Amino acid sequence: MTASNAERHAQGEQWLVPNYKPQPIALVRGEGSRLWDADGREYLDLMGGIATAALGHCHPKVVSALNEQAGKLWHVSNLFSTEPQLELAKRLIAHSFADRAFFCNSGAEANEVALKLARRHFYDRKEDRFEIVAFEDSFHGRTLFTLSATGQPAYREGFEPVVPGIHHAPFNDLAAADALVGDRTAAILVEPMQGEGGVRPATPEFLEGLRRLADGRGCLLIFDEIQTGMGRTGALFAHQKYGVTPDIMTLAKALGNGIPIGAMLARDEIAQALVPGTHGSTFGGNPLAAACATVVLDELTEGGVLEHAEAMGRKLGERLDAMAKRFGSDKVVEARGMGLLRGLELHGPAADVVSGCREQGVLVISAGANVVRIAPPLVIEEAELDRGLDVLEKVLEDVLA
Ligand SMILES: Cc1ncc(COP(=O)(O)O)c(C=O)c1O
Repeated sequence: MTASNAERHAQGEQWLVPNYKPQPIALVRGEGSRLWDADGREYLDLMGGIATAALGHCHPKVVSALNEQAGKLWHVSNLFSTEPQLELAKRLIAHSFADRAFFCNSGAEANEVALKLARRHFYDRKEDRFEIVAFEDSFHGRTLFTLSATGQPAYREGFEPVVPGIHHAPFNDLAAADALVGDRTAAILVEPMQGEGGVRPATPEFLEGLRRLADGRGCLLIFDEIQTGMGRTGALFAHQKYGVTPDIMTLAKALGNGIPIGAMLARDEIAQALVPGTHGSTFGGNPLAAACATVVLDELTEGGVLEHAEAMGRKLGERLDAMAKRFGSDKVVEARGMGLLRGLELHGPAADVVSGCREQGVLVISAGANVVRIAPPLVIEEAELDRGLDVLEKVLEDVLA
């Protein structure tokens, strides 16, 4: 059990399918915004397991919810009602536009069911609408339908033919979306802020325009809030900051603070299309995952975490803006983002900054090739954030020199 980073890394290279390219450390323990590797080295976490560990690692309330549920009931399938799943659904509905929830295990599955629901909704209404309008540089998952909706051709290479009837417009280009939405369009699928595609917020006019387009042309509007939801932008859901409401929303990542769970939320009239037998998941909304997610939602909405995330997000934004200014536009394209999901776009690859920070004990990630992405636990303390950003700034000095 006490293998070193180097041994674990070598084992991964030998035993695992080589689809990931992990960093050369094995993480063994976490607490709050800190992590420890197999060699006993401590790291400050400014990436939160890719915007997932919203309450930090091993949050005591999530740990006790998981332990308590583990001693009660793990799994019975969705052929039975379970208390944690219904408690979670009740809270998600109370805090959102939605009337109904469907639970699954990941972001891709949440988007998969959202897209299927859009098609099925129009099938029931005997309208020949099956097309999806999505956006360039988007990321929606790795199942074939969600991969087809993802607006980054590199992810599709070798997996074609993709699901037909999906069109991509440039992000934030309302006129281009307008030209693609027609009488065959079932839904427009969009991230209020693109995450993997480079931490790119939608403009208010764009999201408002998509809502108008969907209403005017009679299709549905789906917001993929898998990365932006659950307090990441300082609001519970990013669309609340824009004042634009979707018909369907998908969540995953921070919903369970790291335990696998995804959700699709929809208005009642739309959700009705998924009659018995149309869709399902063995593990979806499993008692263990739902018990954790319930605590996450309670902490965000009643425990002051959203307010803290908003304040820390402002601070993060100010510091990244200052760095962009300091290094100048010939080195840094721009700083952008919302709340505690922000990026610094460089003119060159972000990989050296990511590895340089790691060597200095701070974990950040990239978003696309050139964007350094910062997405710490929402509970990160101000002094920790400052310390991590001091390291980032020093590493940028070296890499951009
Ligand atoms: C916006 C968005 N949608 C969907 C997904 C896919 O989620 P998962 O990896 O849980 O399938 C991701 C993952 O990064 C995401 O950021």
